[in-house]
Formats: sequence, structure tokens, C-alpha cells
Amino acid sequence: PLPPAFQVPLPLPSVLKPVSTKGGVDRYEITQREASLEILPGVSTPMWTYGGTFPGPTIEARRGRPVVVTHHNELPVPTVVHLHGGRTPAASDGYPTDLVLPKDWQDPAAQPSHGMSGMHGMGGMQDPKAVVTRLTREYTFPMDQRPTLLWYHDHRMDFTAPAIWRGLAGLHIVRDDAEDSLGLPSGPRELPLMIADRAFDDHGGLRYPSLDPGLREQPGVREAYLAGVFGDVILVNGAPWPVHEVDAARHRLRVLNASNARHYDLEAVTDDGRRLPLVQVGADQGLLASPVTLRSLPIGPAERYDVVVDFTGVPIGGRVRILNRLGEGRTRDVMAFRVARKAADPSRVPRVLAHDLPAWRRSDAVRTRDFSFRAGRMNGGHGWLINGLPFDPARSDVTTRLGDVEVWRLIADVHHPVHLHMVGFNVLSRGGAKPLAHDAGLKDTVSLRPGESAEIITRFDGYRGRYLFHCHNAEHEDMGMMANLDVI
Ligand code: C2O
Ligand code: CU
Repeated sequence: PLPPAFQVPLPLPSVLKPVSTKGGVDRYEITQREASLEILPGVSTPMWTYGGTFPGPTIEARRGRPVVVTHHNELPVPTVVHLHGGRTPAASDGYPTDLVLPKDWQDPAAQPSHGMSGMHGMGGMQDPKAVVTRLTREYTFPMDQRPTLLWYHDHRMDFTAPAIWRGLAGLHIVRDDAEDSLGLPSGPRELPLMIADRAFDDHGGLRYPSLDPGLREQPGVREAYLAGVFGDVILVNGAPWPVHEVDAARHRLRVLNASNARHYDLEAVTDDGRRLPLVQVGADQGLLASPVTLRSLPIGPAERYDVVVDFTGVPIGGRVRILNRLGEGRTRDVMAFRVARKAADPSRVPRVLAHDLPAWRRSDAVRTRDFSFRAGRMNGGHGWLINGLPFDPARSDVTTRLGDVEVWRLIADVHHPVHLHMVGFNVLSRGGAKPLAHDAGLKDTVSLRPGESAEIITRFDGYRGRYLFHCHNAEHEDMGMMANLDVI
């Protein structure tokens, strides 16, 4: 039985304590393990977790202060950790074949007669550069990047979508003194909101149409789900349609769409049907130059938006519902805020938020590349392709030089949220016209709408090595829509 909307209290993911802070480095330990969690009230749901919770524990980092996370894999399958939006050396970026194997894992591809049909599979095209470890792996994140909301999630070859669905996702926030001094709402008035849809079976288990429910050998989903897997329950921070009590004051919402395939267009609506303005202060890769006021906030899979909402004018006892304009029935509801009391509000939203945004111009670009994101055939089955090809870890797709500025022209057949590892970019144009209001700032994921094209510009600075770009509809990603990005 699904709970009524706006009854379950909003959980706030716990902040992970470092096991050591010596030498200017914050060290953490996370054990990936199975756990039964109460997602729906009174029901127990078996999940795969980072540290026993969903979302996993939040890591709070300071800019320029390295974070080292040791992950222990006690799950029954290999895993890979990727810090989404992190400017991370390639060895710690969670390349899909850099597996952390569980204790007794035998490569199914090495055994006779496994059911691999169509997809590449882990044993098929093994990346010669793959770094495979058993049980544990240390990931190093320099945190030499703009403050923003990042997230970490599984990135295992062919099985990313079901692994995230089962719970392998957590938040990672980077902060610095400049951002702290702006006076944006903070403390209990800054709320991380991880939005993700899920489907449940009659016993409370997560429902996902995997071809191989053990996620061991055969990747992929049943044919009806090739476009992506959707749930009928909307979770925020792991709770169904939650409610949160707030002061009648400004609040800073750090919103992440951690859904596999669902897009949202969020609005904040009062009891009397008024839409509260959403003041966007940040994008995927941190603060905007100056705030942008939105009536609604479109957010595709993996995107993050940093928005300030002012509850000052809402009557005490009143409610502000966050609704998804793209949803229907129960998927229209997302969560609600109950305005509990009047309170002083020392916060502000400065007219200038940041001075450090890059100002790349088209004329800075040393080359322009074109990429199509389209459905096609792959090994005799359905696939999602970039420039006509499914992902192959052994193939070089894009080679660029560290420091080069490039313009990429992207074109989509259906919705594709396109994500680049390591770098942030600006959206130069969308659909042949000016970018939309919410395209402002530095992004790492741009959500292309059906039939739409976009141009992005970036500078490949950071580190040399093999990175990725891909569609972040997690099912599309698993079904081929990914490519290598070699920075040399
Ligand atoms: Cu959110 Cu390649 O990842
Ligand atoms: Cu896609």
C-alpha cells in the first residue's frame, strides 16, 4: 500500500565522518552492502547500499582539500564508483571496467554457456587499461574545483542503471569560503533533495525489468523498457512524497534528479494556487554569475540545480507543494513544505554570486565536433548509439589535448541528458536559438529534448587520461550510449 502524499517526514542523509583528517586529507570508508530499508512506511525493501542507507552518506568537502574514499564491496556483484561532476584523475574516475570484485566472484564470461546475447558484456571487449581489484579500492578526489553539489553512484559496465535503481547513489558537496560568505540560506535552511522514482512489487521489493535479476551475466532490460525504466513512486531523499516543516523564510534547495530516466519540470505551488518563484543560484558545476528567476525548473537525469525559495509570504500552517508538471496522477506530486512558524531571516541572495565563471568564446575553440544521440541496431538488437556506434571500451572515440577549447554540436532523437566527465561546459545554443534561462552557468549535463540540438563549449583542463561522455538516461547508457574521451 502506497502512503498518501505529503505525510512521511523528509529524511536528511547523514553526513559521513572522516576516519582521519591528517595531513590535510579527509579519509573516508564506505562499505557497499545489502540492507533492508523502510522506504514505504511499515514495509521492508531489500536494497544495495553505500553504508547501509539510501541515499548513501553525504560527503562534505572543502575546495582544494583532497578526499580519499576507501570503498569495500560486500555486494554479490562487481561495482565501480564514479563521482559525478568531480574533476578527478582518471584512475579514480570510476571507468566502467575498473571493477571492485566481490569476494567469490568468477567472471561469468569465462565460464561456458553464459547467456550473453547482443550486448558487449564484461567478458567480451575487456578494456586493456582496466584496473580490477578485489573487495576494496581507494578513490582519490583532489577537490580542485568550484563548490557545488556532486553525487557518487555506481558506473559498472552494462549494469549501471539497475545498480543505481537498487540504491547505489549518494551526495557529495564541495564548499569554499567565498560561497560561505555570500549569505545564502544555510544550516537547516539549506536542504539537499535527491529526487528519484522507483517501482515496488507487492512484497515491498524494488521492481526492475532486468533480463538477469542477479545482475551477474546478461545485461539489459525487457524490450518494453528500452526507452528507460520509470517508477510510480516519487522518492525524495529516499522517502515517498515527503513533507518538511520550514520557517517562513528563504530556503536553499540543492536539487538532484537521481532518477534513471524520468524528467521533471518542478514548480512550487501554495495552497491558494500561487506559484512561488524559483531563484536559481547555481547549476551542475556551481554558482551562476548572478541569479536567474524561474517559474518552473526543468531537470533531467543527473542534473543539479541550486535554487532559493522564499516561504516568507506563505500563511503559517500553510503548505507549498513541489509538483512535477510533466507527471500524471501520483507522479505529479513530488514533496511539500509545511510553513510552521515566523522567524527572522538574515539570509540574502546577492546580485553577483561568482566572478570566476569561464568566458569561452566560439573563436577560442580549436575544433568543432558533431555527435548524434540516436536509437539504432547493436549486435542484432536494440541499442542507443552515439554517431551510430555503441560503446566499446577498447575503441578511442574522441582524443583531445589538455587545455584545448572545443565546441560540440549535439543532436538527439528522443530525450537524452548528455553528460561529460571531468569538465564543466557552457550551453552556447539550443535548438538553433539562444539557450534557455535554466541553461545558465557551468553545466556537466545538458538535457536535450526530443529532436533538439545544442551546442556546448568547454576547455579540457584537469587531467590527462581516459574519460567518458554519455547519455545519463541510465538505461540508454547501459545499452550503448557512451563513448570514450581521451585527454592527452
Ligand atoms: Cu553520473 Cu558517467 O555519470
Ligand atoms: Cu539517452
